Amino acid sequence: MIGSSQWDSMLMYMRMMLEGYRGRFAFRSRITHSLRVTKWAQRIWNQDGQGADREVLLAASILHDIGYPAKNGEDHGELGAVYAEQYLRNEGYGEAFTSKVCDLIRNHSRKEFLKRPEEVGDRLTPELRILMEADLMDECGPVAVVFDCMAEAGEKEQSFEKTYRRICKNAPVFLECNWMRSPSARTYWEERQRLLRDYLEAYEGELFLQEKMPEEFEKAADYMIRTMKGHEHTPNRKGIVYPFRRRDTHMLRVFYQARKLFKEEKNRQKDKKKEFGPYGKRVLSYAALLHDIGYRRTTDGLLHAAVGAKMAYEYMREEGLPEDLCRDTAALIEAHADKRLLKEGNPPLLLQLLMEADHQDESGAMSLAWDGMAAAMPETGEDDSFLNLLDYDRAYQRMKRYTAKMFSVCEYRTASGRELWQQKERLVRRFLRTFAFDLEEWSPQDLGEKEGS
Ligand SMILES: [Fe+2]
Ligand SMILES: [Fe+2]
Ligand SMILES: [Fe+2]
Ligand SMILES: [Fe+2]
Repeated sequence: MIGSSQWDSMLMYMRMMLEGYRGRFAFRSRITHSLRVTKWAQRIWNQDGQGADREVLLAASILHDIGYPAKNGEDHGELGAVYAEQYLRNEGYGEAFTSKVCDLIRNHSRKEFLKRPEEVGDRLTPELRILMEADLMDECGPVAVVFDCMAEAGEKEQSFEKTYRRICKNAPVFLECNWMRSPSARTYWEERQRLLRDYLEAYEGELFLQEKMPEEFEKAADYMIRTMKGHEHTPNRKGIVYPFRRRDTHMLRVFYQARKLFKEEKNRQKDKKKEFGPYGKRVLSYAALLHDIGYRRTTDGLLHAAVGAKMAYEYMREEGLPEDLCRDTAALIEAHADKRLLKEGNPPLLLQLLMEADHQDESGAMSLAWDGMAAAMPETGEDDSFLNLLDYDRAYQRMKRYTAKMFSVCEYRTASGRELWQQKERLVRRFLRTFAFDLEEWSPQDLGEKEGS
């Protein structure tokens, strides 16, 4: 039986072999990947390990990618098997054990074995099956999402939409098939497929990509986009500008969201006829569409509302819109930045809806994407050396620190706003729970004996 100090030195050897290797994506550490694959292999073996030699499987899991720094098109499995053989021999592991582990390493990339097991017969041994399943399991689910977010952070042009499209483009690899053979692995995979699907659905909903601008507001939308052209997002309190955040798309989303909340709330509160009339909807629509244009002239978090109100009023008057519509829209814009109203006050319904629509933008699926992208960028005071330590865990820590915290309070008063917030909270919590499970750390002692499943 392999003792924990032997596991320890095998892990150290793996770390040494992969130290400094990063490949195309800095965040894709092969060391932590190998650790996660080993964890997955343990989990699957615990439930479906009949006929599989646990120690052979775990040794192969730890060492399966040590040939990754291979160059010139050399197969990393072949090279890894050569390195592993040297190591295991030197360490005094028996002939049979060494050759089984090396066979697994040599063949671990041949995922067609999993896809068409009937063609390969007994070449797909129980150990090889679990190793391949574990290898594929990593980078499915939350890791797949975060992978694309972090990759996008290295792009010159960035936006929430672009990140969404990248995740969509890569998702079919996970969504359209389940190559897992072990029942437990199938279940893990299905859970991650469901999560990925729900995440993408939520993300798409938050972007309002399917919405079409109603004719009445087309001109105002054009005016807003023109006004914001070339406008850099204001730096946050730490002086960081996230290149994927844009005010114009933010205002468009708040516009669609405010109208959606309006409609839902109208169906709930049949008694508030006056506020929910067509006039109320127009005021809210114009205000939502133009609410942040003041940022074109000032970076002040409060002042932009007054400046924007004036700009919107002037624009709408010039367009010949009725005086009371211009005035009420401007009043709504002017009041929208006072977040104390959201917390303590009891603002008029239209203002409440505008503030709720504004506040909930870039939360939920988008906020997770934000953290994923931001995690791959240096924080204040960090130089590029942070890239050497970059890992999915940095994204997870950020998500806990920012996105999850966001949901510790719900300041919304309208039933529709609260419902939307709670729906987002459920997705975020589920995402983070699964992500934490997938990144779970372990120590060499865990390998010493069978884990409870
Ligand atoms: Fe590999
Ligand atoms: Fe791998
Ligand atoms: Fe604002
Ligand atoms: Fe806003």
